[in-house]
Amino acid sequence: MNYLVGITGMCLIILGWIFSIEDIPPLKLSILYSIGSFLLATYAYLLNDVLFLSLNNMATIVSFVNVIRALKRTYKHSTSMSWEDLFALQYNRVSGVEREVMNFVKEHLKDSVTHGLEHTMRVYNLSLRIAREYFHRGIDVDMLVLKLAALLHDVGRPLEKELGEHHALLSAEVAKKLLSELNLENEVIERVCNAIVSHSFSSGIQPISIEAKILSDADKLDAMGAIGISRCFMLAGITKRSIAESVKHFYEKLLKLKDMMFTDVAREIAVPRHEFMERFLEQLKKELSESVMYGD
Ligand SMILES: [Fe+2]
Ligand SMILES: [Fe+2]
Repeated sequence: MNYLVGITGMCLIILGWIFSIEDIPPLKLSILYSIGSFLLATYAYLLNDVLFLSLNNMATIVSFVNVIRALKRTYKHSTSMSWEDLFALQYNRVSGVEREVMNFVKEHLKDSVTHGLEHTMRVYNLSLRIAREYFHRGIDVDMLVLKLAALLHDVGRPLEKELGEHHALLSAEVAKKLLSELNLENEVIERVCNAIVSHSFSSGIQPISIEAKILSDADKLDAMGAIGISRCFMLAGITKRSIAESVKHFYEKLLKLKDMMFTDVAREIAVPRHEFMERFLEQLKKELSESVMYGD
């Protein structure tokens, strides 16, 4: 039993060391790790074994440091991190093909505003969030296919005007070329491209696989809520669209998205976002009606 406590303590120290190098532990995992180390240290104390007690004490200290770092990171992300920092954080967590693809996307979408890197990374994160929920339910999602499809789903946008084709088809073409160059299996490339082609409802192609459905829903979610409103008016600034015309866009597209979700997980996320847009429109209309000029 003593050996078990000692070995576990050492494993915890190594794990804590890996955490501190990779900067990866999320807050919940850090807290769990910290509680585990503390309990083991207490047990080692009861066994009255100096070596094992020292090992587990070290693990406890490492774990507390990780909790503080995770807390600091959580706070920092929610307040002041720029998009470059957030991208760098994701970028540092991935390797291999995913990293190559992120580099490509960063370079390819650097001039896009509403469908650029920020949008891509939010869709990527939303896709992972939905997929995680399906994993918990025991439904298999191919994470490599989903991640690559989410990263590449809008890379064809910058070519849309020039080539006059739907950006979903162009993105799939760009993705196919890139992923072939990166020596991915044909089957994976095909599944990524199928998800990309069907991500946009305006392409008229229905998503079939679970990965395609998740990507399409994540993309729609990013057009809803406070972010959807922000993007709508960012686009209005670029295209010189008036406030009244932007309001029309809500009724023609954004308010319909909630009922167009393919997955029930996304539908749940969509509800508060939809309600927020409704509240925003109510206030906007009220303020617009108050701004009518009154003459003498
Ligand atoms: Fe798109
Ligand atoms: Fe998109």
